[in-house]
Formats: sequence, C-alpha cells, structure tokens
Amino acid sequence: MTGKTSIVDEITGRRRMRRNRKADWTRRMVRENRVTVDDLIWPVFIVPGTNVVEPISAMPGVNRMSIDRLVEAAKEAADLGIPSIATFPNIDMSLRDLTGSNILAADNLINEATRALKKAVPQIGVITDVALDPFTSHGHDGILREGVIVNDETVEQVARAAVIQADAGSDIISPSEMMDGRIGAIRRALDGAGHQDVGIMSYATKFASAFYGPYRDAIGTGGLLKGDKKTYYIDPANGTEAVRDAALDVEEGADMLMVKPGLPYLDICWRIKEAFGLPVFAYQVSGEYAQIKAAAMNGWIDGDAAMMETLLAFKRAGCDGILTYFAMDVARSLAARG
Ligand code: PBG
Repeated sequence: MTGKTSIVDEITGRRRMRRNRKADWTRRMVRENRVTVDDLIWPVFIVPGTNVVEPISAMPGVNRMSIDRLVEAAKEAADLGIPSIATFPNIDMSLRDLTGSNILAADNLINEATRALKKAVPQIGVITDVALDPFTSHGHDGILREGVIVNDETVEQVARAAVIQADAGSDIISPSEMMDGRIGAIRRALDGAGHQDVGIMSYATKFASAFYGPYRDAIGTGGLLKGDKKTYYIDPANGTEAVRDAALDVEEGADMLMVKPGLPYLDICWRIKEAFGLPVFAYQVSGEYAQIKAAAMNGWIDGDAAMMETLLAFKRAGCDGILTYFAMDVARSLAARG
C-alpha cells in the first residue's frame, strides 16, 4: 500500500462497508437472516383417485396428487424436516354447486386426505383451508346470491366446515375466504366442539391480486370464475386498511397471521409483525412461483438463486415462515448442504 490518500478516503473517512464483505467467512459472521427448513410450509394439491400425479402446466415442478401419492410425498417432506403442509383440493366438477355444499361432507377429498396424512405421517402438521372456492360452481370463496357474495351465511358455513376439518384431524384451520367476522366465528365453533387446541392461521391480509392465476388452474376454478374478488379481498393499493383487517383477526382470536401474496407485499409483512408480534407467514403464491420458474426455464435468471433470495427477503421483512411451492426444493438443497 502506498499510503497515498485517495479521493474516496476524503469522502467516506475510515468507514468501508467492504471489510465485512471481503470473504465468505466474514459474510457468514455478519449474516442477519437465514432460511431453515423450519421456515417452510408446503402447499399441495389433491385430486381424487389413486396413483395419480398430474403436472400443472403453469407451475412446472408442481403436481396434483391423489391421496396415496400425497402421503408418500408427505413422508419425504417430514423426513426432510418440513414442519407442516397446507392442502388444497381439486374437487370433482360434479360435486361443485352454488353454495359449495361438499365442504360440509365429512368424507370429502380434503378431509379424507387429512385422515390419511394424520394416520401415516403424524409428525407433520396439516393446515386446511375453509374457503368455498374449490367447492363452488362459480369459483368464488363464498355463497353467491344475486351477484353478491353473502358474508354472514358464508361465515356460518365456513365455521361448520372448520369443525368438520378439525374432526378429521386438521391441526390448523386457515381460512382464506376473507369474510368479515370469520375468525371469531371459527374460534367459537372450534371451542364449542372441544377443539380448543386446533389453531387458526388467518389469511389476515389477502389482496385482490393478479398473481393467483396458476393456482386457479391447479384447483380447476380458473374457467369457472366470473368477475373478480374485489368485493371481499383487499385492494392492492391499501396498506393501512390491511393492518386494520389484521387487527380484527387478532382481536377475534387468530394464533398466526398470513400475508398473501408475498413478495409484492413485504411492507405489509413488516407492518403487521411490528404491530401485533404474532407469528407472521407469507404466502409466496402460484404466480410468484411461475414467474421465477418461467424466467429460469428461459435461461434469463438463475432460478435457484432467485428462489433463495426471495425466501431471505421474507425473513428480512419479519416473517416467521413462508408457504412456498419451492418448499421441497429448498428442503432438499438445505439437506444437501448439511
Ligand atoms: C382462494 C385461494 C386463492 C389461493 C389460495 N386459495 C386465491 C384465489 O383463487 O383467489 C391462491 C394461492 C396461490 O396463488 O398460490 N380461497
């Protein structure tokens, strides 16, 4: 070194951010966030039948599975250390109707899957949704009457469905349908049925997003849905309203809060973590997954690196975990690293 004063020294003095970045070992020393297998919730799609594994075209690498194949996959997930899975059914079209009545059948696809999972893989948590969209002939999350998604009648049905799902063995009820007052109603219904230990992970802030497209294809609602969900999901323009919505869920008894979609809403993750201190989970939704996959398949980005970067971003934003279709890929790569 010459000891000559450089122009940079004059401006920045003796502070150089690079010193902590200079080697892999310094970077590891100062790393603030890490993704571990404990952060992962794996969303899965279920179809009727046996030995069925169907690819979903807009979600390369994600399949719809029959219950027997799902059980095998869940065993692998549990062996890798993934704490829980979230199940979403693709219900036979003949069972879908205006009110989504099949959600109340004790032996429907979602409940049969829960029973099979809890029997074969009791060490993995099962999270089930009570939204009506997989069960309705119109693809909306609630009961549709004269062009309106009716709130209170839907809440009544959703609360009944929660008890039936808990009876089947569901560990956490995760309502995604965004009706007003549902968290309190579900809590009361669960408690009334003796399910005090069944938790509620509220989709507290669910936005009317364009990133759900591939999911609707996966559960077969894409072609059914008329109109949009703007009368019951949150406007993507609104952050303060989202915090208010989450506050109601906290008051009504939610144990965990979810933000959905994920990456476009990191500000909401941060705000509701700061505001309530409850466990917060981001749902990295189907369109977010598809974006990364599509760019990677075109050779435009490094898919694995982009995937890990997004998961770290959720941790940095205060999330306690992430629902992600990448869960198995991440768990395998973490396991390989040791
Ligand atoms: C609806 C529901 C949606 C998702 C899960 N449940 C949104 C929708 O269809 O409007 C989206 C999940 C994803 O995109 O990965 N209850």
